[in-house]
Amino acid sequence: MRTRTGWWLGGGLVMVGATALGYAALVERNWFTLRRYEVPVLAPDAEPLRILHLSDLHLTPGQRRKQRWVAALAGTDPDLVVVTGDNLAHRDAVPAVAEAFGPLLELPGVFVFGSNDYAGPVWRNPLSYFDRDRPYVQGEPLPYEDLRASLVGAGWHDLNNARAVLKAGGRSVEAVGVDDPHVARDDYPAIAGTVSPAADVHLGLAHTPEPRVLDAMSADGFTLLLAGHTHGGQVRVPGVGALVTNCGLDRRMARGLHRWPPGSGSWQGGAWLHVSAGLGTHPTAPIRFACRPEASILTLIPR
Ligand SMILES: [Fe+2]
Repeated sequence: MRTRTGWWLGGGLVMVGATALGYAALVERNWFTLRRYEVPVLAPDAEPLRILHLSDLHLTPGQRRKQRWVAALAGTDPDLVVVTGDNLAHRDAVPAVAEAFGPLLELPGVFVFGSNDYAGPVWRNPLSYFDRDRPYVQGEPLPYEDLRASLVGAGWHDLNNARAVLKAGGRSVEAVGVDDPHVARDDYPAIAGTVSPAADVHLGLAHTPEPRVLDAMSADGFTLLLAGHTHGGQVRVPGVGALVTNCGLDRRMARGLHRWPPGSGSWQGGAWLHVSAGLGTHPTAPIRFACRPEASILTLIPR
């Protein structure tokens, strides 16, 4: 009798597991959502400024639905587009990224790269995503210079270890960015320096939200820091949240809008940090659970 009950229980658990895995792989991974936040960083009486933050597309040429969804975001009428890397997941994906960004490329934009823009996916055990100590293994080289040329050719600013001042929504935006800290490509000291009070907005970009980079940017006066990389944990446990961020960031900050340094009040200076859970997954772990793929509209408002 006990044996039969055990079989039923075991079979039930396998069914629940298979259903959850099917949902994560077939439904939620493609269930894109647009999140909205208000970020109080502008001077008193300033008009709102809309930033569209995209990250971690991990695009392959066949992902047509994702390309159409991203292109349609032009309908949100952003003043500025910010892309925090990991666009590519295939050596032929640059035209697909250009197609996805399509109408957005006519708007002001800034970008940094992530490690997956440089090297293709390497097949491995999907559960290794949750291993903090896994070694970083590079796949085939990807055509990141073609991607850079495509974005810069459209007028976007390449912020891989660079600074720029640009116009967006009639405002002066001072932006700084580093190449991906996850693979030690960042060189913030080369571009460090206090922000200009003449600019209306001060943005800091990094693919991976490594605390040492966020600390340096906020110390220089950049008041809105934008990053991706974490995929929001990619598989979140209800009631617990993300299990990993795959970087030095606390897992409770794996996605969404937070203060930086953590716990600081806006009256203490410091910055806001927006971590995008991104729109894709690493091709070797094509699942999302309780962590829908996302883009975000950050509406900057007066402090
Ligand atoms: Fe990513």
